[in-house]
Amino acid sequence: MTRFHRRQILASATALALAGGAVSRAQAQTAAATDAPRQRLRLDEGWRFAFGHLDDVTKDFNFGKDQRTYAKQGPDSGDAAQAKFDDSAWRLIDLPHDWAVELPFVHKDVALVPDDHGIVWDNAANHGYKPLGRDYPETSIGWYRKTFTLDPADVGRRISLEFDGVFRACIVMVNGYIVRQHDGGYTPFAIDITDFLNTDAKPNVIAVRVDASLGEGWFYEGAGIYRHVWLVKTDGLHIIQYGVNVIIGADGKGMIGVETQNDSDRARSFDIKYVIDGKDFTPKPIGDGPGTDAWLPYAQSIPIQIENPRLWSLQDPYLYELTTSIVEDGKILDSVVSRFGVRDIRFDADQGFFLNGKSVKIKGTCNHQDHAGVGAAVPDAIWDYRLQCLKDMGCNAIRTSHNPPAPELLDACDRMGVLVIDETRMMTSSERGLEDLRAMVVRDRNHPSIILWSIGNEEPQQGTARGATIARTMKRIVNELDPTRGITAAMDNGWGEGITEVVDVIGFNYRDNKIDDFHAKFPKIPIIGTETASTVATRGEYVTDDARHVLRAYDTEAPWWAATAEAWWPHFDARPYIGGGFIWTGFDYRGEPTPYSTWPSISSQFGAMDTCGFPKDNYYYYRAWWRPEPLLHLFPHWNWPENENGKEGQTIPVWAYGNCDEVELFVNGRSAGRKPMAKDMHVEWQVAYAPGKIEAYGYKKGKVVLKDARETAGPAAKIVLSADRSGFLTADGRDCAVIRAEVVDARGRAVPKAGNLITFTVTGPASVIGVGNGDPNCHEPDKASKRSAFNGLCCAILQTQKAAGAIVVSASAEGLVSGKVVLKSA
Ligand code: GAL
Repeated sequence: MTRFHRRQILASATALALAGGAVSRAQAQTAAATDAPRQRLRLDEGWRFAFGHLDDVTKDFNFGKDQRTYAKQGPDSGDAAQAKFDDSAWRLIDLPHDWAVELPFVHKDVALVPDDHGIVWDNAANHGYKPLGRDYPETSIGWYRKTFTLDPADVGRRISLEFDGVFRACIVMVNGYIVRQHDGGYTPFAIDITDFLNTDAKPNVIAVRVDASLGEGWFYEGAGIYRHVWLVKTDGLHIIQYGVNVIIGADGKGMIGVETQNDSDRARSFDIKYVIDGKDFTPKPIGDGPGTDAWLPYAQSIPIQIENPRLWSLQDPYLYELTTSIVEDGKILDSVVSRFGVRDIRFDADQGFFLNGKSVKIKGTCNHQDHAGVGAAVPDAIWDYRLQCLKDMGCNAIRTSHNPPAPELLDACDRMGVLVIDETRMMTSSERGLEDLRAMVVRDRNHPSIILWSIGNEEPQQGTARGATIARTMKRIVNELDPTRGITAAMDNGWGEGITEVVDVIGFNYRDNKIDDFHAKFPKIPIIGTETASTVATRGEYVTDDARHVLRAYDTEAPWWAATAEAWWPHFDARPYIGGGFIWTGFDYRGEPTPYSTWPSISSQFGAMDTCGFPKDNYYYYRAWWRPEPLLHLFPHWNWPENENGKEGQTIPVWAYGNCDEVELFVNGRSAGRKPMAKDMHVEWQVAYAPGKIEAYGYKKGKVVLKDARETAGPAAKIVLSADRSGFLTADGRDCAVIRAEVVDARGRAVPKAGNLITFTVTGPASVIGVGNGDPNCHEPDKASKRSAFNGLCCAILQTQKAAGAIVVSASAEGLVSGKVVLKSA
């Protein structure tokens, strides 16, 4: 163990500061709840929730009695912040909670004027038509309360609250004391609440007033305490939040930095012990005797050398586990478990991105943070589900546009081998901007998955001297906190000016045709496509219908600023100097309906998948060219009955995606021609419709290796249910499975236009927490147990309870044979 006191601590803090540039940082962090002495307990369950008012200081819950101010703290402050306040009429909820997703879709007629490109934008549409903001004071402010008593054994320990994310501007009160105000909707914060707690059997109450009247983005952002809350108990002498960092190179050489805090009332002498994967890394010899003057704060760094490290890579995302402990008189006072990976990253202006010395083309997707059925309150397991969907498509990177994500998403990227650009919400060096930036970097800097920090997106000052000044300040902060990664910014103009010379890697949002020129003029600046494509398409629709706000799912439609999949990817694929790109977007998301940016559209249509994660046809374009496995995908469906779209005898474009050499199409058994599949492209035929079957044969080296077919289905007859998870779900009240319901005909063929209303019922220890169908114009509630299928599909999010057992999910609809899926939780 390293015994240290003031002298050593100061020396090691300097060493840490000097550690800089030469080595790359590896992941550490996200301390899991460990055995005592530190306890990090989820505080997600059993909160009470009610809406408040803009002026609720004088109303119902009477925060601040009649004073409308923070005049008194503690017992004399507002009623709703007091333990004695009767909140039994408030709703009982568990976190994470997004009240916006529970609200109905609301539309107000306002005069809308087309922009220069003839597009009519409705600001309410951008946020997904939820009643939040100035016009909706009754549903814009929420109050949360949580009551708990302190375990007598915890008296004398430091007690903190950690909030992972609250949308947004919140005031946190503990027993009537205002302990924190926090503005940012995407950044974590921690509060030491020890001094305000009742140490006897009296209950303690946490009250949180959350104001979502203002947004921070131009997309759906949710509302409420939408990420986890933790109760952390430590000794007075402890490691601070995010206080363990591992900086390590691919050669296994590096250092661990630790920051401690002494909040006890006396000086302490202590040792720090480091164990990686069960092996003691504590430097020997240990220090020169106990210190006597150890107050606060302390930072120590120690060199480490991991022999023959197992590198973190996309194929083998190996994570080491570091346990850092504070030891006093032989007793462990505090322990933090951190996972980290050892890897090397590099951007090259001529050759793109390198991971562990090997060139890796970034096949990325941008994504917002909402999902069908749950809005912004995404259960941890759904992050895994979403990443798996993306990986299945061949995506190897995500950009957390346009905000720092939930920590569990980054954990999942570390575990599953997905690269990340982590983005701060605002490009500004204001106090608030830098607070957000620091919070992001300090929280996230140890994740091996993160390859770049993004300081902003399409900011108006990007091409200006002011922009460069701001970016320089932001870069300095990032470099101080993380000397191992560069910064980027997602630009939509101003390349060559403003922040160009400040960023380490320049980001192009769309405008692919400007990249070659830029590269010629600035040959030393590495380039990525921070936002690329994006095809707009409605899953399962093949005829654009402005009246219904649906877009054909062929890869032909894109807004004026964007490109189709087939227009951008070949361009990027053919240029080794471009590190790769991030399509806008992997999944559809709430808000920003485009090009139908008005009622009744409530979600975007940019995704390769819809809001549930159901693939659109474009998904298969990427799957074909982003993954090595042979693939063949034929579309559209082959159900065009007369009187519906009147297609009998009409010509229908038939497309195939795939990575075969050639594809031959058969229409009702007759060849419609065999065509070569050019790299990064598709093949297509024009076919006169007649009911029956279209079938594609994929050839490699002249041999048929794959077939795919679409067949005219009969009427809807039954529901087929499946789950994304096999094996056991965890019986922890948190784990989730995504249940997919598909409507098929009597012979089991997908009924592509089915819209049956499907009811999910569950027996056993689980429940449905939300439903979705991917329809960008659907106003059915997400928080329900029934949902209409949209073009044959809908889904339910199933969450376990804290009991083990068999879980049977059934789906029924009038006139259809029900579907069933059986899962188990343990
Ligand atoms: C980009 C913007 C994204 C999204 C996208 C829609 O300009 O950065 O947030 O709005 O357009 O195409």
